[in-house]
Amino acid sequence: MVNFFDLSGRIAIVTGANTGIGQGIAVALAEAGASIVAVGRSSMEETEALVTKTGVRFHAIKADLGTIAPVKKIVAETISVFGGLDILINNAGIIRRADAIDFTEDDWDAVIDTNLKTAFFLSQAAGRHMLEKGSGKIVNIASLLSFQGGIRIPSYTASKSGLAGITRLLACEWAGKGVNVNAIAPGYFSTNNTTALREDPDRNAAILARIPAGRWGTPSELGGTAVFLASAASEYVHGTVIPVDGGWLAR
Ligand SMILES: NC(=O)c1ccc[n+]([C@@H]2O[C@H](COP(=O)([O-])OP(=O)(O)OC[C@H]3O[C@@H](n4cnc5c(N)ncnc54)[C@H](OP(=O)(O)O)[C@@H]3O)[C@@H](O)[C@H]2O)c1
Repeated sequence: MVNFFDLSGRIAIVTGANTGIGQGIAVALAEAGASIVAVGRSSMEETEALVTKTGVRFHAIKADLGTIAPVKKIVAETISVFGGLDILINNAGIIRRADAIDFTEDDWDAVIDTNLKTAFFLSQAAGRHMLEKGSGKIVNIASLLSFQGGIRIPSYTASKSGLAGITRLLACEWAGKGVNVNAIAPGYFSTNNTTALREDPDRNAAILARIPAGRWGTPSELGGTAVFLASAASEYVHGTVIPVDGGWLAR
């Protein structure tokens, strides 16, 4: 039987792969057989150990994704080291919390630049290569804030709503050319991004009370959906944002 989820021989870039959701996805893609290019500003040693244990190739690229300066180099280095690029996971992201009434321009720009602008221009750089060969998979890590308003995170909500829109736009332009662009909307996962929420007893209790699954997610629980969207199993899936949220949006 054909294994629709096999990623053997595929080459995947994962941004922000040193920790949290990015690390969980890098390991899942590696377990499915993909070579991993881990991109970020922090040490990738822990991720390298987890990925190479699965027997696939690993390469780390140091890059600050707060600007689009490194995007062309990331794609060029991936192709020169591994000979191609099949999968891009736009995962790196930040969040800044403050009441809308006090929100600063700096907190607006930093989040929009990292979460939205870099994700778009890295997709463009990867897309040039993927369109030329007529195949490729791009997966954006969106959020429940791609669907909902949230509170005290105006630039985050704008960036993740924008990322869902860009996912649909790129799918409309590239679906007919062999490139799948989709997104995953994680619900509430235990990572650095959500430490402040988990440490606030009132917010933590309110969040848990609303999640039908009754608990926070762990990064490895996004792996299956990421492998699905990166594999032949999703060949006719374009421009969708798949929630992986313990049932939050169903409530
Ligand atoms: N946790 C959740 O519940 C949740 C829910 C919905 C969506 N998400 C999204 O999931 C993605 C991963 O977040 P996470 O929860 O795993 O949080 P995290 O542990 O804070 O991970 C964020 C990742 O992005 C990287 N990053 C941030 N700014 C960067 C920059 N300027 N240059 C390079 N790398 C940068 C971080 O690197 P450093 O470690 O070096 O800072 C880290 O690898 C984000 O896009 C986030 O918005 C998370």
